[in-house]
Amino acid sequence: MAVRLLSRLVLPEIRGTVYSSSAAAPATLSDFDVQHKTPVIRKQQSIPKAQYGGRHAVSMLPGGGIGPECMSYVRDIFNYIGAPVDFEVVDIDPNVDNDDDVQYAITTIKRNGVGIKGNIETKSEAAYVTSRNVALRNELDMYAYVLNCKSYPGVSTRHKDIDIVIIRQNTEGEYAMLEHESVRGVIESMKVVTASNSERVARFAFEYAKRNGRKKVTTVHKANIMKISDGLFLETSRRLAKEYPDIEHNDMIIDNCCMQLVARPHQFDVMLMTNLYGSIVSNVVCGILGGAGLLSGRNYGDNYAVFEPGTRNTGTAIAGKNIANPIAMINASVDMLEHLGHRYHADLLRNAVNRTINVDRILTSDCGGTASSTDVVNAIKENANLIANKLHLG
Ligand code: NAI
Repeated sequence: MAVRLLSRLVLPEIRGTVYSSSAAAPATLSDFDVQHKTPVIRKQQSIPKAQYGGRHAVSMLPGGGIGPECMSYVRDIFNYIGAPVDFEVVDIDPNVDNDDDVQYAITTIKRNGVGIKGNIETKSEAAYVTSRNVALRNELDMYAYVLNCKSYPGVSTRHKDIDIVIIRQNTEGEYAMLEHESVRGVIESMKVVTASNSERVARFAFEYAKRNGRKKVTTVHKANIMKISDGLFLETSRRLAKEYPDIEHNDMIIDNCCMQLVARPHQFDVMLMTNLYGSIVSNVVCGILGGAGLLSGRNYGDNYAVFEPGTRNTGTAIAGKNIANPIAMINASVDMLEHLGHRYHADLLRNAVNRTINVDRILTSDCGGTASSTDVVNAIKENANLIANKLHLG
C-alpha cells in the first residue's frame, strides 16, 4: 500500500530522477516516509497464533534463488514426520515496483503470528523501492535477530567447538535507508540509532544470556569514530549490564572483533551489535563454521517471529541444480517448530539433522561432501524414521 500511495502522490516528480536531490523529495511526509523512513517503533497488537484443530498455520515466503527448492524440502520433511503445521505460501514478485505482495505477506504473518522465509529479492533499482526484507522486519517491528552459531563436529573446519550467539539490532542503524544527494556528487547516508531500540535489543541480549545460562555479553561497536550513534548503543548496553551482575560484559571495536573472530573465536559467548555489523559478523561466523548453508537465524519482535537461513543470501548461482545445502532452511524450520511449542517434532528433526551431518557425514559440496541436496533431505528423513522408531520401541 505504501509504495502505491507514494506512486500516486509523489512518483510523477521523482520517477527517473532516482532522488537526485533533496529538493526532489516531497515537502511533507508521505505515508511511505512515515512507514519506512522514520525511526519509530511500530506498536503491534498481540493476537493469538493461528491454530486450527491442533495444527499451526505459518506463512511461508520462499523468496528467490534457492529459496523455493529449500522450502519444498521443508514441506516434504514436515509431511514425512507429520509435523502439525500448515503453510500459507506467499510468493513475492521481485520485479515489480510496488509493494502489494509484501503488504499481503505482512498481513498473513500478522494473521498467523509466525513466518518462515528465504531471501526475498528486490530487483528494482529505483531509490523509492525499499528492500522487501527490510520492510518486512520494520513493519512487523522485529527488532532483534538471533543467530546461534554452534559447530557441527561432522563439518571439517579450522576451529572446533564454537558456540556463539549473535544478537543484532534488526530494524534501524545503517539500514535506515535514508540517503540523499545534498549537493551534486555528494551522497549522504544516515545511520539511525535510537535510545529505545538500543535498550530493547540490549535487554533482549542480557535476558537471552540469563535464560540460557550464558556467561558473557560482548557489545560490538565503532564508538571511537561514530561517537554519538554507536556511543549511544554502547552506553545503553553498559547501563543495562549493571542490571545483570552475574553476566560479564565487555565491548570490542568491530574491526578488532572481526580479527578476533577468525583468530580466537572461543573468547566469544553472546555478541550484541547494531544492524550492519550484525550482518557482517553473522557472515564471518557462518564462514568459520562451514558456510552459508548450515545455520539458521531468528527475527523476533514482541508479537511476531520469522525464521530464515542465517546468512540471508539467495544462492542464485546454484539454484535449480540440486546442490544447495538444505540444512540452513531445515534448521530454520526446526527453530520455528520450537517457537510454536512442537517440542517432539523439533527434537526429532534436530536430532535427525545432527545425525546426518555428524554421524553419517552426508554433506553437500559446500561442506566438503559429494551429496546432492535431495541426498541430504532423504538421509534426514531416514534418520528421523530411525529415531522415531527407537523412541516408540524403547
Ligand atoms: P550469494 O547468494 O551469492 O551467496 C554467497 C555464496 O554462498 C555463494 O557462493 C553461494 O553459492 C553460497 N551459498 C549460499 N547459500 C548456500 C547454500 N544453501 N548451499 C551452498 N552454498 C550456498 O550471496 P550474496 O552475493 O551475498 O547475496 C545475494 C543476494 O542476497 C543479494 O541480492 C543480496 O542483497 C542478498 N543478501 C545477502 C546477504 C548476505 O548476508 N550475504 C544479506 C542480505 C541480503
